[in-house]
Amino acid sequence: MLVLAADKVDASAVEAMTAMGYTVDVDPKLTDADLPAHIEKYNILIVRSTKVKADTIAAAKNLKMVIRAGAGTSTIDVKAAAAAGIPVCNTPGRNAAAVAELAIGMLVCCDRRMPRAMRHLAQGEWKKGSFQVAHGLRGRTLGVVGRGFIARYVVEGAKGLGMKVKMFSAGLTEEDAKELGVEKITDKNELASCDAVSVHMAYSANKPETFHFIDADFLGKMRDGAILVNCARGEVVDTAALKEAIKTKGLRVGCDVYENEPVKADDVFVDTELAELVEVATPHIGASTNQASEAVGEEVVRMMEVFIKDGKVENC
Ligand code: MLT
Repeated sequence: MLVLAADKVDASAVEAMTAMGYTVDVDPKLTDADLPAHIEKYNILIVRSTKVKADTIAAAKNLKMVIRAGAGTSTIDVKAAAAAGIPVCNTPGRNAAAVAELAIGMLVCCDRRMPRAMRHLAQGEWKKGSFQVAHGLRGRTLGVVGRGFIARYVVEGAKGLGMKVKMFSAGLTEEDAKELGVEKITDKNELASCDAVSVHMAYSANKPETFHFIDADFLGKMRDGAILVNCARGEVVDTAALKEAIKTKGLRVGCDVYENEPVKADDVFVDTELAELVEVATPHIGASTNQASEAVGEEVVRMMEVFIKDGKVENC
């Protein structure tokens, strides 16, 4: 088996694959545009942020599987892969705690405006009087969009902070809601009326309802000064409308993901206006802990083994 990793994968996974007798080429500099010219000889393609487009699938004459080392397959043309009979897998849940922790951190940062306070302090300005906030988070209501692993960890964290949690998910059962100690909601207006909203839904180009799920209409219904955290995908929030809502109603925002975000390390992030406007902005580091990378790597190797030995495709 010839394996190509077009993004960095955990060293432990590369070691394990090599020990299993596979040849693994790791080339994190390969872009989506480079892939068609490189893919032909490979049997397995592993990616994290690098997009896999239809032209790569068309050139992938020997490819048996694409594995996204992360949650979801939004960066991969799954339709083209399905038409070519190539399964596309991912590693759900393996980095969920890391992402959820970042989201909770953002919630607190947005509420107490810590990064802004820190910027003043770094300039020698003691702005103690400027950072009085109305409430704090205890007793406030958080709307969580989604019901996957990350959403569930966020619920735990928010409840630990004494927040009331409403979970927006049509698929959430009443039993699950009871067990999680949340209120199930399916009305977007009710979601918009929460004191804070944290988005943890999967984005898919094949599900138009997931594109700009948070749009101008939704943002217009949020309260002045409410909090919005997006550690899911940039595409679920309308960036132009978000900027407007920050300017006009003082929305406090935390972002780890962006529309048209850079893919490769050291790429340039162009939307510096957004980074200036929000309370906290990070460069898609939700899953960036060694523990999460190892867990994702382990799952990649496990799925490959199951596929190669038993012909079974998991997490598809
Ligand atoms: C994920 O999809 O699990 C993360 O967003 C992966 C990443 O950090 O690229």
